[in-house]
Amino acid sequence: MEPTEFGPDRYGRSFADVYDRWYPADGATGAAVEVLSALAPEGAAVLELGVGTGRLALPLAAAGCAVTGMDASAEMLDALAAKDPGGTVARVHGDVATAGDWPDGPFDLVVAAFNLLLNLADQAAQARCVRSAADALAPGGHLVVETAAPALPDRREQRLDVRHVDATSVVLIATDADPASGTVLGQHVELVDGGPVRLRPWRVCACTPADVDRWAAAAGLELVARRWAWDAPAALDAADAPVGVYRRPG
Ligand SMILES: C[S@@+](CC[C@H](N)C(=O)[O-])C[C@H]1O[C@@H](n2cnc3c(N)ncnc32)[C@H](O)[C@@H]1O
Repeated sequence: MEPTEFGPDRYGRSFADVYDRWYPADGATGAAVEVLSALAPEGAAVLELGVGTGRLALPLAAAGCAVTGMDASAEMLDALAAKDPGGTVARVHGDVATAGDWPDGPFDLVVAAFNLLLNLADQAAQARCVRSAADALAPGGHLVVETAAPALPDRREQRLDVRHVDATSVVLIATDADPASGTVLGQHVELVDGGPVRLRPWRVCACTPADVDRWAAAAGLELVARRWAWDAPAALDAADAPVGVYRRPG
């Protein structure tokens, strides 16, 4: 995979060195692991798409699941490897939007957490990813998708927000949101006293839980549960709830 400005490896190249510091495991992580563990008992084969540094994959492996983590970013996979000297998570370098990159299944559980799906270039790539996930599932297996979609403005909007301030550093977030294409282009701009400016670019394409429902149904999956958050179940007809659980019949 050749690195390109907004290719599949972009997010990882931008954030691998700060990911664990900026997005540390928290209560939501514990709740997510609990939900996923209930779908994947000890010994179950689990595939996490966009595994990152293993925030979810490492605790699932520690709970006895046979976990494979796929990621397009060599930097993210290296960060995961450094935290997992025993190799409890099998690492696969590949693009989840490219069916040929996927590891052999079948899997009892496939997980697309946080903003993995939004990182894909467009909705066609997102739909392909959901199709590949359905194909990788064992009969009776589950796909869990978190759709942390940004709220797009009614018209194109450029903004500057502050993420972090302390005595010697500032992290600003510059975004250009375009509702016509459904995309947000962003830069985390890191300024450290006496150091060079560090730009961390990213790009997301919005999709809604209803889009994921549609792609999952087209791939033969049935919606079996929804959640407003990892620790907050929702009714099945709560169409906006960002976590969806889908099952392959069998
Ligand atoms: C926000 S991180 C989430 C990491 C982890 N799942 C978590 O919940 O902490 C998104 C991950 O998806 C990966 N990613 C983005 N686009 C991808 C693609 N097309 N194929 C595979 N991985 C991708 C990034 O490299 C990054 O590691």
